[in-house]
Amino acid sequence: MEKNRLIEEINALKKKNKAIIVAHNYQVNEIQEIADVVGDSFALSKYCASSDADVVVFCGVRFMAESAKILSPGKTVLLPEIDAGCPMADMITAEELREEKKRHPGAAVVCYINSSTEVKAESDICCTSSNAVNVVKAVDQQEVLFVPDKNLGNYISKMVPEKRLILWNGFCITHHRINRDEVEKIKTLHPEALILVHPECRPEILELADYVGSTKQIMDYAKASGHSKFIIGTEMGVLYKLRKDSPNKLFYMMSQGLVCPNMKKTSLNSVYEALRDFKYKIELDEDIRIRAKKALDRMLEIN
Ligand code: 13P
Ligand code: SF4
Repeated sequence: MEKNRLIEEINALKKKNKAIIVAHNYQVNEIQEIADVVGDSFALSKYCASSDADVVVFCGVRFMAESAKILSPGKTVLLPEIDAGCPMADMITAEELREEKKRHPGAAVVCYINSSTEVKAESDICCTSSNAVNVVKAVDQQEVLFVPDKNLGNYISKMVPEKRLILWNGFCITHHRINRDEVEKIKTLHPEALILVHPECRPEILELADYVGSTKQIMDYAKASGHSKFIIGTEMGVLYKLRKDSPNKLFYMMSQGLVCPNMKKTSLNSVYEALRDFKYKIELDEDIRIRAKKALDRMLEIN
């Protein structure tokens, strides 16, 4: 089907099914254009929880759609691409976390939202990249078992030195790939540009940054800044909104490899088919969902 026709069909199906389309900041431009809301993991989970839609089409990766379902069990949550996963979320299983908890019985268990529902169910509280520092500050225990992202964990350790973080060896294959040489090279080409990075990058990259934040925080920072040139250290999907918000500013990607293949799977066609055939429905075990919801609710109370 041709693009405009596809968009018309999507809008008609949305209306018929009382559906909303939510999209993560890393989605391809045409998905961001048709979405009712585009945001970071934190904003999207809050939005889904407060919406009165019957159906949520989640243009993102599985853990995000699962988070929407955990918070809104009465809604039908659809993930248009069944195999849009997050390799970092798959780097720890619930069984592995249970074993690790036995080794650190006094520690608070904080899990990054980039994790499965089963891992969330084993955790005391969840966090996203935008609230991780506040969440770790807020837990009572001095010792914190943080899973699965070691880079975000390292960043929190620096920001909250009064806590002792035990880190899992997980990482984002897209952000972890960036190396110091390429950042120094691009900084030499654009010495006046500010470096804005996501905390999923390695510590040596964060050291070079002028600002560290979630995808949304990076966008807000660039929009409000008096500077006009920025080097961006997160997935390239953010360029769509950065350039839309600030057409006179210049944005350079820190590395050409900053593409999350899973985020790029969703297309207009898969959104259309999701709404037409009600696929792929996120279904969760109710006991596990209730336990996972406690961890997400505690996070939402903090922010
Ligand atoms: P944000 O919460 O910053 O949008 O990040 C999600 C993510 O998967 C980053 O790789
Ligand atoms: Fe997961 Fe990395 Fe993709 Fe984010 S960018 S969804 S952490 S693989």
